[in-house]
Amino acid sequence: MNFHVMTLFPEMFEACMNISIIGRAVENGIISINTVNIRDFSEDKHKRVDDYPYGGGAGMVIQPEPVYKAFGYLVNHIKLSKDDPGSFKKPRVVYVTPQGYVFNQNMAYELSQEEDLIILCGHYEGIDERVLEMIVTDYISIGDYVLTGGELPAMVLIDAIARLVPGVLSNEASAEFESFKDNLLEYPQYTRPEVFMGRRVPEVLLSGHHAKIEEFRRQQSIARTYERRPDLLENAVLTEEEREYLTRLIFQKNFDIYS
Ligand code: ADE
Repeated sequence: MNFHVMTLFPEMFEACMNISIIGRAVENGIISINTVNIRDFSEDKHKRVDDYPYGGGAGMVIQPEPVYKAFGYLVNHIKLSKDDPGSFKKPRVVYVTPQGYVFNQNMAYELSQEEDLIILCGHYEGIDERVLEMIVTDYISIGDYVLTGGELPAMVLIDAIARLVPGVLSNEASAEFESFKDNLLEYPQYTRPEVFMGRRVPEVLLSGHHAKIEEFRRQQSIARTYERRPDLLENAVLTEEEREYLTRLIFQKNFDIYS
């Protein structure tokens, strides 16, 4: 999969994305992360890309022209990189903005199916609306808070999407058995030693009884989700016994509150 990032700060990606799992995936050619500096497409002699907002107000707005030119360059680059020009299809363009749909694991799965993905990073007070209307297909936020720019959100998206691309994680199974499988949070993990500062690893994990361990882990996942993210339970995939377990948990909690 190929990520293409339109940004004013390509050095942020160079600093962060050639490390660890993502860095290895780039090195092995499983994914690529290509940055395009929007400033390179400024016609201004001082390479300015921003200007005052029409109608007044604080801050600066990125002008449409350099963004549109950077986009044209990028699309052409993607087209030329195809062995079979007939296989070219217009890539999706994600604009990372606090005004977008809030990113989640399902969106990461869906986007990981794309061969090319363009991510547009804003800065200052944003980007002129007209160019957004012309090129953006998806508006995505990484949460209800405001950052100074779109670079960190773009890296969050790349990390979450790239690890779902086959071959990026060395143990493919590990992408499956973790938080958000069946819409539940992951169960707690333990490693050696068996006793740490007086705290024992749950006995069942030492038993070697796989069915019991599986049941324990599912119950831990359900309890943890109920405690920390009850909103997820609405869409959780549970067996009949697990629903009963959840009902007992809820009953117990209400009992604790009222007794
Ligand atoms: N740019 C600034 N804040 C952001 C956020 N929360 N999500 C995505 N892009 C952003």
